[in-house]
Amino acid sequence: MTTPTTDTGLQDVVVSTSEICFIDGDRGRLLYRGFDIHDLVEHSSFEETAFLLWNGRLPKRAELESLRKSLATQRRLPPKVLALLKGFPRKSDSMDVLRTAVSTLGLLDPDAADNSREANLRKATRLVARVSSLTTAFHRIRIGRRPVAPRPDLSHAANFLYMLSGRKPRVVQVRAFDASLVLYAEHELNASTFTARVVASTLSDMHSAVSAAIGALKGPLHGGAGEAVMRTLEEIGQPDNADAFTGRALAEKRRLMGFGHRVYKAGDPRAKILRSLAAKACRNSPEPVWYETAIKLHEAVNREKGLIPNVDFYSAPLFKALGIPVDLFVPVIAVSRIAGWTANLLEQYADNRLIRPRADYVGPARREVRGAGRGD
Ligand code: ACO
Repeated sequence: MTTPTTDTGLQDVVVSTSEICFIDGDRGRLLYRGFDIHDLVEHSSFEETAFLLWNGRLPKRAELESLRKSLATQRRLPPKVLALLKGFPRKSDSMDVLRTAVSTLGLLDPDAADNSREANLRKATRLVARVSSLTTAFHRIRIGRRPVAPRPDLSHAANFLYMLSGRKPRVVQVRAFDASLVLYAEHELNASTFTARVVASTLSDMHSAVSAAIGALKGPLHGGAGEAVMRTLEEIGQPDNADAFTGRALAEKRRLMGFGHRVYKAGDPRAKILRSLAAKACRNSPEPVWYETAIKLHEAVNREKGLIPNVDFYSAPLFKALGIPVDLFVPVIAVSRIAGWTANLLEQYADNRLIRPRADYVGPARREVRGAGRGD
């Protein structure tokens, strides 16, 4: 019998092999299926990245065209789901809405109970198309506007921004948003992906696994950090206040959102790319102050506490400059990460073993019940 070890938070515990994502935390490198994210951001689109994550190779021209067409034709939400969105309280948390709506998509999906790779690829494609439409449609409904019909001629990134605002976005905005979608698409066994794999390991269905992953992503120590970063920047207000804010926050032992990472100790490579995207986007936006404040906060936190920014730090001023409402920053991560979640689910189903760890019991030793009412 092997001796059990206890690792709170499963830090550095390896629970499976995977061919999808490689993270070198010491050197700050991130590869999807062997491709460096710098190359993918430079040369590929989100659609190509999704294909790569699902299939282990980049698509041929015809395959990419076919995926683009499938995504475009699946963007329209089923009328029942649209009606559901209209019935939700307008003040609902957008991640709660997304979780509930994805679960409902599962009720209506013709492949719901089929866990074959072919059926799961069809569901993955529909989910990529529709997580985007759900996020934008609910936003339109809650601000009292009609949801915008999707445009099949637009890329995934461009169509998201279009369905959000009703205006065709500029090329420079689409490029920056597409790059963010590539960067957020996959990240090994982060909390939400691990959650998805745990659910799938019971041989439950893809929509159940994705609904659970959305719940995990919502938390402020995971995807929720993105929104919290923007709230922090708004609290600071302007670059000159960053030093004083940092001193105060550290004295109060506040957790600084968008800083620190469980795996990257030398720098999150995604943060560096997002920083330059944010710089460009904010310069061309009416509110360059958020990038300038972020830079000052980064400097102060690094100087005072040695913490490094993670992926959610510079995506906050970037998303703000792209006109994305702050409380949609977390669903936007789901719009991208759905590609990675589903890739991990395909891998889990292909070679499954129930994920069932143990706990080290530290409660009281054996006690006896001595008749009713003795618990008082
Ligand atoms: N602000 C202040 N102190 C921090 C931070 C932070 N953001 N991150 C780590 N620390 C400190 C902790 O207080 C702790 O200090 P101590 O040893 O003096 O008590 C030490 O660094 C280690 O922190 P842990 O929480 O144990 O590190 P862990 O690896 O568990 O946490 C995490 C990683 C959760 C990301 C953490 O850095 C954090 O809470 N960051 C803020 C939230 C955030 O940005 N999350 C997004 C992560 S990326 C993503 O999910 C998309």
